Amino acid sequence: MEKRKLMYEGKAKKVFETDNLELLIVSYKDDATAFNGLKKGSISGKGIINNKMSNLLMQRLEKNGVPTHFVEEINDRETVVKKVTILPLEIIIRNISAGSFSKRYGVEEGITFETPTIEFSYKNDELGDPLLNSYHAIALGLCSKEEIKIVKKYAFAVNKYLKAFWASCGVILVDFKIEFGKLSDGTIILADEISPDTCRLWDSKTKEKLDKDRFRRDLGGTEEAYAEVMKKLCGHIRED
Ligand code: C5P
Repeated sequence: MEKRKLMYEGKAKKVFETDNLELLIVSYKDDATAFNGLKKGSISGKGIINNKMSNLLMQRLEKNGVPTHFVEEINDRETVVKKVTILPLEIIIRNISAGSFSKRYGVEEGITFETPTIEFSYKNDELGDPLLNSYHAIALGLCSKEEIKIVKKYAFAVNKYLKAFWASCGVILVDFKIEFGKLSDGTIILADEISPDTCRLWDSKTKEKLDKDRFRRDLGGTEEAYAEVMKKLCGHIRED
């Protein structure tokens, strides 16, 4: 496969066209941003970890009934994915209170919910990714009623699988953000990435944060935390 023109450069990834109209190459960067781009930095080696972790998790999800964009990892930082039109929605699932949930509702972090929550935000940097519900998403024409139903079903399936998977690695899946895209025939599939950039992952024993909150909150040890959580994942896969 031949890598062609740069199609898009985001905060953490570059996306290239290829000689196949239905496939793209995603290239993961070490650049990190937070608070809608207000905080900028770099997490050395992050691109490699996010590429590999996202690919491992997507392949497992695919085997467990969630279609994904993953096609083939071509090197440490680059992966071939199916070309989709991304739905302009961020889907956030939470198992435990943290982050903006704790801030918005005035509750401490670390409260385990009886059932997971789901929320959506409108992917729009200018508006600061505002929260919306499924009726708003349909009213704004961001997706159809049928599409949001599928998105919700897959999002909870992703949570069910990943929560159990991370638990067996000795990691608590606190919350995460995912995105979906549409293939040219309208099929909805999981796209974007699943990594410590997009998930809150706590060490089951120590409750230590092994994710991007270390960067967001200037906790230090960000590179080490990404490496540690990847090590836990790989350790579990080897035993599997
Ligand atoms: O900040 P908040 O508590 O809403 O984040 C919930 C989850 O979604 C966290 O795991 C965070 O890493 C992820 N997230 C993301 N990209 C965003 C917003 C949140 O990956 N733009």
